[in-house]
Amino acid sequence: QPIYLKDYQVPAYLIEHTELRFELDEQETLVRATLRVRRNPACTRSKAALELHGHETLELCRLSINGEILSERDFSRNEELLTIPSVPTEFTLECLTRIHPELNTALEGLYKSDGMFCTQCEAEGFRRITFYPDRPDVMSVFRTRVVADRSRYPVLLSNGNPVESGYEDDGRHFVTWEDPFPKPAYLFALVAGDLAVLEDSYTTASGRPVKLQIYADSKDLDKLDHAMLSLKRAMQWDEQVYGREYDLDIYMIVAVDFFNMGAMENKGLNIFNTSCVLASPQTTTDAAFQRVEGVVAHEYFHNWSGNRVTCRDWFQLSLKEGFTVFRDAEFSADMNSRTVKRIEDVSLLRTAQFAEDAGPMAHPVRPESFIEISNFYTLTVYEKGAEVVRMLHTLLGPEQFRRGTDLYFERHDGQAVTTDEFVQAMADVSGRDLTQFKRWYSQAGTPRIQVSDSWDDVAGCYRLTFRQSCPATPGQDEKLPFHMPIAYGLLAADGRELAAGVLELTDAEQSFSFDDLSERPVPSLLRGFSAPVKLSFSYSDEQLLHLLRHDCDGFNRWDAGQRIAVALMQSLMVDYRSGRELRLPESLVDTWRSLLTDASLDPAMVAHLLRLPSEAYLSELADVIDVEAIHEVREFLLKALAQALLPEWSAVYNRSSSEEPYAPDAAACARRSLKNLSLGYLLATGEEVWLTLAEEQFNNADNMTDQQAALALVVHSGFRQAGERLLAEFQAQWQHEALVMNQWFSIQASDPWPGALGRVQRLQEHPLFDARNPNKLRSVVAAFCGQNAVSFHAADGSGYAYLADWIIQLNKQNPQIASRLLTPLTRWKRYPEEVQLLMKAQLARILDSGELSRDVYEVVSKSLV
Ligand code: ARG
Ligand code: ZN
Repeated sequence: QPIYLKDYQVPAYLIEHTELRFELDEQETLVRATLRVRRNPACTRSKAALELHGHETLELCRLSINGEILSERDFSRNEELLTIPSVPTEFTLECLTRIHPELNTALEGLYKSDGMFCTQCEAEGFRRITFYPDRPDVMSVFRTRVVADRSRYPVLLSNGNPVESGYEDDGRHFVTWEDPFPKPAYLFALVAGDLAVLEDSYTTASGRPVKLQIYADSKDLDKLDHAMLSLKRAMQWDEQVYGREYDLDIYMIVAVDFFNMGAMENKGLNIFNTSCVLASPQTTTDAAFQRVEGVVAHEYFHNWSGNRVTCRDWFQLSLKEGFTVFRDAEFSADMNSRTVKRIEDVSLLRTAQFAEDAGPMAHPVRPESFIEISNFYTLTVYEKGAEVVRMLHTLLGPEQFRRGTDLYFERHDGQAVTTDEFVQAMADVSGRDLTQFKRWYSQAGTPRIQVSDSWDDVAGCYRLTFRQSCPATPGQDEKLPFHMPIAYGLLAADGRELAAGVLELTDAEQSFSFDDLSERPVPSLLRGFSAPVKLSFSYSDEQLLHLLRHDCDGFNRWDAGQRIAVALMQSLMVDYRSGRELRLPESLVDTWRSLLTDASLDPAMVAHLLRLPSEAYLSELADVIDVEAIHEVREFLLKALAQALLPEWSAVYNRSSSEEPYAPDAAACARRSLKNLSLGYLLATGEEVWLTLAEEQFNNADNMTDQQAALALVVHSGFRQAGERLLAEFQAQWQHEALVMNQWFSIQASDPWPGALGRVQRLQEHPLFDARNPNKLRSVVAAFCGQNAVSFHAADGSGYAYLADWIIQLNKQNPQIASRLLTPLTRWKRYPEEVQLLMKAQLARILDSGELSRDVYEVVSKSLV
């Protein structure tokens, strides 16, 4: 059943032109496809049948070649393919298909979201629309006519430029779209509905005027400005930083509420989850503003890294995703605070991606095989893939890297290529041998690096020795050494930098010497997280404090603070388990006091420095995850630091309050984040005065960041009555804003107070909960199972049974979402043995529950190995 990279074969037939005609209707939509097909000259197989993908839900009405209708004997069909054994070398194929958008709950292919039609074709959704060679190395020009009832569907969109519109004989209206750029079917899109639009324009560097349109439900028209601004900034940034211009006359974004993922880069017609495009100060948090900016840019950047140059096959997914995530991360770093963006991205990588590497679905950035490609839209392909591109950037330097991307785009424009071609372009411009570097694409797992040092006082020579290894992952027992850049600095006692640069690690063990130093330095290693690895060095507390104070690398200053906090929490966990009283060391209080009282420090930095490592990060670091110990120790520390530094927290809270009107810029976000961090500590004391302060903030806030923070903190700090009251007020105020209510759901689902499962089950009865809407499932089910560890891991196994029930229900309804929600259960190996048994029992129950989708089957079966 799995598909293997090594089995790749070029397509036997190419599609020169694709003409589509959609007659939209809820129950029965008719799709007529007219394909100009020709034998692929690059295919050496002598007699190849024409293979068209077609999902089992497609109803084939008519099939003809050069006008001759084919009979049942001329072709065969199974659940996946329609095969025509003998065809001419060049011909026109016409295919009429009937589909049922209203029954489409998987949200792949053509489906209905609220009142509108929309599509999601990546990776293999086009085969749910019509019979077609649905593989990314078949690229075609598309011309699409959309026909629908005028009153219900006044707006009819597809890829490219509108070239014709009017009325059909029966009174329905139509618009015809033409996309001149050859593209794979996964980039096809269609939208029809009664939509409002925000319009703007952009003139590219070479003077091409581009019409910009963002479509949404009319009630959300006032929430599109931030996305529009982000789009224009992204267009300009890509011209300046990569020399890439937009290439069509129109760029459209459509916001839809039912969407499996974040957004989709369809050529000229991006489709977005409302959560990644709508934003207004009153309804949207700072974090969500940043996310909108990042996702809008990400999808825009795909126009070059993904659309103009696309993937040969789905094993190459990181070719476009890793590169594009790197591009959007650099964009966000340039628009906001570079250090903060890096801290956030590395936090995600070190918790979720490292956990993926340690789990049963671990795979290389370029996977070798899959059962269902949807399961490989992962943190490894996206975020680790971006780290791999970042390492190339570090190794080559910005100028050579840019020459490399120029060559890549120039050489492969209009082609479907592999990650090898990307690396080759980098090798060609730099003259470097990147053969060993390519192991980052083929070897899975998180590399470990052990660093030790020595100092020769007489010679003034400092020596660093690196030992790298990588644990086994499914199917890969032995790993070869990686080629990785280690950015470093050596700090003197007074904080001066004695040396800095980038070391290149290539061997399993390797030493580097630094001569003529006046004193033994403190090493700052892996600056900016220059490689996606776990690096250990036996720092003393003094050395970490030294880095915390003096390192010029903001990321490593933060990381030094994290290392201090993690070490303390790990030792407190030992105390907790042996029943000893937990104590807060005075030294930590002093350090924190100095950070809190130094008003000259960057608030963004302070907010991150004073945030305790998350439960998820501590879990990832643990040998065996003790959910309760992690939670209790973190709660203890929160309370203890709150008590010990009460006046300081209160002063910081006051200092970072502001009367200025809301703006989501980096400085204002940092200030709010520090303010709400201090509010969290103040509430951790459990004292009523601070509750009053929080309620004031809740009532008076002019923005969602402050209002929601107050709500979440009150609820999560154990103020039960006040929490209920604020939740009720919040609901009354925001019940008509779906995205705000998603937050309302998720605050409750992630509340660790005893009885969480019962509360979550009541939330599912709420009139605004809708199990067909992925955003709602994420707000309730995923929030409970992924952000409420103590409740999900309740000792009686009720959390596991709850999740399994959902998976069994969603398996048929929406396999992609089912498989994604399943993740927490797959990590059973990380828990104590009695917990493992309970988790595995639920995985087994899913496996035995009947016919499983490929999505769920792949994850469950691989997890039980
Ligand atoms: N290419 C999209 C993006 O990264 C994601 C689409 C994922 N779709 C899916 N069915 N897995 O921007
Ligand atoms: Zn993407």
